Amino acid sequence: MRPGHRLERLIQISRAIGSIHDERELMLAIMRHLTTAFSSERSTLYLHDPVRGELWTRVAQGLEHWPSELRIPQDAGLSGRVFQTQEPMCIADTLESSCFSRRLAEQTGYVPRSMLIVPVMRTGSQCIGVIQLLDRRVGYFREDDVPLLEAVAVQVGIALENARLHEAQKRQFNSFVKALSTALDARDPLTALHSANVANYAMGIGEMLCLPPADVEWLKIAGLLHDVGKIGVPEAVLTKAGRLTPQEFAEMKQHAEYSRNILSQIEFTESLKDMAVIAAAHHEKLDGSGYPDGLAGEAIPLKARILAVADIYDALTQTRHYRIGMPMHEALVVIDGMTPGQLDATCVRALKAFLGIR
Ligand SMILES: [Fe+2]
Ligand SMILES: [Fe+2]
Repeated sequence: MRPGHRLERLIQISRAIGSIHDERELMLAIMRHLTTAFSSERSTLYLHDPVRGELWTRVAQGLEHWPSELRIPQDAGLSGRVFQTQEPMCIADTLESSCFSRRLAEQTGYVPRSMLIVPVMRTGSQCIGVIQLLDRRVGYFREDDVPLLEAVAVQVGIALENARLHEAQKRQFNSFVKALSTALDARDPLTALHSANVANYAMGIGEMLCLPPADVEWLKIAGLLHDVGKIGVPEAVLTKAGRLTPQEFAEMKQHAEYSRNILSQIEFTESLKDMAVIAAAHHEKLDGSGYPDGLAGEAIPLKARILAVADIYDALTQTRHYRIGMPMHEALVVIDGMTPGQLDATCVRALKAFLGIR
């Protein structure tokens, strides 16, 4: 391939890195571009598994028939050597290389003649894997191919690091949300699973409505956090065994407003924006009789209507201080009585579908 074409391929790789967010998809795209740019027969991205002391194939173009990922010892063959030394290798003829493991290559049913292998580094000089290209369609790999592949390996290292950080951030955020909702639910043993249940029903309704996965994930977080404002409601009101007085009920209703205040102080990512306003609207009713703002009809966002149905269903079926939990069918009769006046009929249908009821 002419140098100009290679440059084009490199630019395509840079574009892919900027536009593809799924790590697996991104690595596939990069390796596809590399195979074409270097006119190679096959290409492999090996990543290091420090726990097992192995290199495993994150992407193996030409090995698609392989039942699962291929794993090799971290010091085996040419790839193992590049991983250990962190020095690239350009082999015109594998038969003349003392490090080449024919036995390893034969495992895959493909014995290459020419190979180009470079390390993939993480910032801080830690080697996290290698990229190997196998066999040129015409001729063999040459030393002047190395710098170009090294340039791509740098980008791969950065992309993998970004994906790792993104995952770590996501895990950290999810554990924070879980800890917050567990702390909230722990205030009252009788409602211990309320947040988790609402998250579960809301996700189920979202799936039945064929919402995109990102929205279903949104509903999970919202379900876990919707009642976070109950932290501001006095324990005596929260756990009162009998009916609430009008004054106590007014205090209980305040939790929606408190939820909005608390959640608005969390810096949510773009995909979770509006969490504070919508999650706090889970007690709004279509006829305008709900709280905190008395919104009506279309003014109540779909996600808030979903949360409302999930919240009421769990509240009815769980035992509370003032009554025992209803069986599913009885709770659905109550919900039907509130539909379509107060609850969204489509969301109620979706809940029933999720519960396996026609
Ligand atoms: Fe609530
Ligand atoms: Fe709730």
